[in-house]
Amino acid sequence: MKTINLRPAELERDFGQIAALFSLTEDEPTSELGLKVDYEEHRERIIRLMVAEDEQGELLGFNWATRSRFDANQAYFYVIVKPEQRGQGAGLRLYEDLEKTIAEAQAKKLRVNIRDTCPECRAFAERRGFSEKRHLFAMALDLDALDDRPYDEIIARLKSEGFQFTSMEALGNTEEAQRKLYILNDTAAASTPGTDGEHSWTSFEDFQKHVCQSDWYKPAGQMVAIDTATGSWAAMSAITRMEGRDYAYNLFTGVDMPYCGRKLGQAVKVLALRYAREVLNVNSVRTHHNTRNLPMIAIDRKLGYTPLPGTFLMEKNLEA
Ligand SMILES: CC(C)(COP(=O)(O)OP(=O)(O)OC[C@H]1O[C@@H](n2cnc3c(N)ncnc32)[C@H](O)[C@@H]1OP(=O)(O)O)[C@@H](O)C(=O)NCCC(=O)NCCS
Repeated sequence: MKTINLRPAELERDFGQIAALFSLTEDEPTSELGLKVDYEEHRERIIRLMVAEDEQGELLGFNWATRSRFDANQAYFYVIVKPEQRGQGAGLRLYEDLEKTIAEAQAKKLRVNIRDTCPECRAFAERRGFSEKRHLFAMALDLDALDDRPYDEIIARLKSEGFQFTSMEALGNTEEAQRKLYILNDTAAASTPGTDGEHSWTSFEDFQKHVCQSDWYKPAGQMVAIDTATGSWAAMSAITRMEGRDYAYNLFTGVDMPYCGRKLGQAVKVLALRYAREVLNVNSVRTHHNTRNLPMIAIDRKLGYTPLPGTFLMEKNLEA
């Protein structure tokens, strides 16, 4: 039997290897520096961060648990073991250590994201009492192949019905506009099928900090449709290009409930895609959807997006 020792992770000694393990299991690469910044930012909410090593001091894997900023009763975590070191008990040791610490820290709900291409990862979680809460998958669009001409007619019809298509940049990105964007984004996101009404932000100030003041927020890429008869914000579609990426990313597209079914979602999304092609200078776009969000998936399929692998959000209630 392999000897496995657990010790607290150390920034200088371990973060290079931990970042490499994150890069192996996440869609996007994680740099050592980026991980250190992330650690400093979330430090006060981190409940546990341990590495497992063998007798020779080789790092086998790590655990990392953070308390949710929305709900002190909830924690999300990672347990990742080097692929060549799996099946020898390291994952189990790291998981058991983590669950015990979380229970002591009095968090009651545990959440983890697991790649849908790793059946043994899901089985490991299921055997520890986790069940699927949501299935998120990625979709990608080749912008060179996008024929957006049919949407001109839809956009023209909506304009004639009194909708103004604009962007946060054109609206001056004022606080007033940001408040309206927040209300529309938050309401539409919470009513997305498959999301259980969960909110992404705790307040307008939280939205401002995490969206409007983030380095990826591009006012010109935040498209909105306004009903000029009432001044109501009816639809939005936000797009950006993350630093170092050669593709654009659709952040969120949403329509306010009373305006659903009028093709406003498709119209604002096409405007965001045109902006990506013309201004962000990319020829592909990616996005993520939960599998129950059928209306949005149907729109994207029609636009030519194709599915890619994704993740299961798995949850366990420690009180049960
Ligand atoms: C999931 C993951 C962490 C498991 O790590 P691991 O080191 O292979 O896990 P273990 O070896 O401890 O356990 C795997 C199985 O081997 C068994 N096992 C434990 N000790 C063992 C040993 N000495 N020899 C052989 N098998 C052993 C475990 O009991 C477990 O089986 P069970 O789930 O039926 O009880 C790993 O596959 C991984 O890093 N995946 C990617 C990240 C991920 O999805 N993490 C989320 C996990 S909730």
